[in-house]
Amino acid sequence: MARLHHSGTSAPVAAGGVPGARASLASVRAAALRCRACPLWASATQTVFGEGPEHARDMLIGEQPGDSEDLQGHPFVGPAGQLLDRALAEAGIDRSTLYLTNTVKHFKYRLRGKRRLHARASAAEQAACRVWLDAELARVRPQRIVCLGSMAAQALFGRSFRLLLERGRWRELPGGARALATVHPSYLLRLRDPDERAEAYALFVAELSRLAEPA
Ligand code: URA
Repeated sequence: MARLHHSGTSAPVAAGGVPGARASLASVRAAALRCRACPLWASATQTVFGEGPEHARDMLIGEQPGDSEDLQGHPFVGPAGQLLDRALAEAGIDRSTLYLTNTVKHFKYRLRGKRRLHARASAAEQAACRVWLDAELARVRPQRIVCLGSMAAQALFGRSFRLLLERGRWRELPGGARALATVHPSYLLRLRDPDERAEAYALFVAELSRLAEPA
């Protein structure tokens, strides 16, 4: 993969252009807005970087922005985000206290007519984007992390992690933070059977509510 040289504030940024360890979260965000480390930037509207208090105790990591997030430039503002908001409220968690981000920072889609349908980022695209998640983790330094979906969980726990077998259990990460994985809210939106959906939603709320416990 090409490594572009990062020389100025508006220059494109590739893997070699991530600001150094002493750079602030704001400068990392500014660099990520110009990221061209994989091809996804070209068809996306913008980079959707993480948001929330710079030193949030708790972090939520999703997969990749959807259509609404791409257009608005903020994580979890579309249908999955609305379901997440409802579940967080039921779990007694104030979204504004969390740092919310994604494993991949650009929307990937395929066109069906004029509709932009979600497409899963490839392993190479996930790997190219990893520097930004690492930079966020290093600066926010959350005590607890909830991974939403298998892409986020595998980013933290490794490719052998099996979400439906291993969800809902805290694991200690190198550095001392604890992380657990639950399903992605869009998985719940795809469930058609009302009983199955209600049961899956209740478990999702129960797993999110682990963040309502003292750290
Ligand atoms: N799905 C995600 O994983 N992240 C978002 O920001 C929106 C939908």
